[in-house]
Amino acid sequence: MDIGQRALGHFLRWWARHGGLAQFHRPTGAPGHLAGWIMGSRSSNVARNRWAARLLDVQPTDRVVEIGCGPGVAVAALSALAPRGLVVGVDHSAVMIGQARRRNRAAVRAGRVRLVHAPVEGLSTSDGPFDAALAVNTIGMWPDPADRLRELALLLRPGGRIALVSQPRCPGATAATSANAATELAALLTEAGFGQLRVELLDLDPPVACVLGRLVPEPAR
Ligand SMILES: C[S@@+](CC[C@H](N)C(=O)[O-])C[C@H]1O[C@@H](n2cnc3c(N)ncnc32)[C@H](O)[C@@H]1O
Repeated sequence: MDIGQRALGHFLRWWARHGGLAQFHRPTGAPGHLAGWIMGSRSSNVARNRWAARLLDVQPTDRVVEIGCGPGVAVAALSALAPRGLVVGVDHSAVMIGQARRRNRAAVRAGRVRLVHAPVEGLSTSDGPFDAALAVNTIGMWPDPADRLRELALLLRPGGRIALVSQPRCPGATAATSANAATELAALLTEAGFGQLRVELLDLDPPVACVLGRLVPEPAR
């Protein structure tokens, strides 16, 4: 076994002892910093986040909330699209909020980006109502996602937009797995009061599914 393989073996054992893939669910400590660095520098993840931000049709004065913002790649893309608005990034990992703050330092200083260390569960903020909400590769980690989406709907203005993004990570995932994920996300959005749904796909392997919708007003009584 050469030195490179031995080093890789040591690294993988260290990584597994410190949570391994679970680090992407709630990054903590040094392994969490590494997970954040991977998410912030991997070209496919950067492309996925920028693509999702563009799909959300953000206007220059929009207020946008991103849940599970991780190292803040989409926050940066959103704030570039809303130079006179506000982007609020939320994550339950302090390590991720720190990385997102560093990535968006100038916009935070200018008051155009706010980063909130909090879980999505029972989220409340005085920064709303928001014009749009985004969640990239995180909703599968939320407890009771339908309840969370209903809570999120309360933070949006009527007609507010939402984009939920998923690239299935299970072994052997294919285009069909992505299509199933999109169907599940669409069902959750419908249950939470969103309509005008549409699905966009990004051609990665497997494809990334983004389900977009709008908060439909309650029927008049
Ligand atoms: C796979 S990472 C994706 C990060 C980022 N959206 C991206 O695509 O680069 C999932 C993120 O969701 C966050 N997360 C998971 N469950 C959460 C919860 N219940 N409340 C808030 N954040 C959560 C994690 O801390 C992590 O930063």
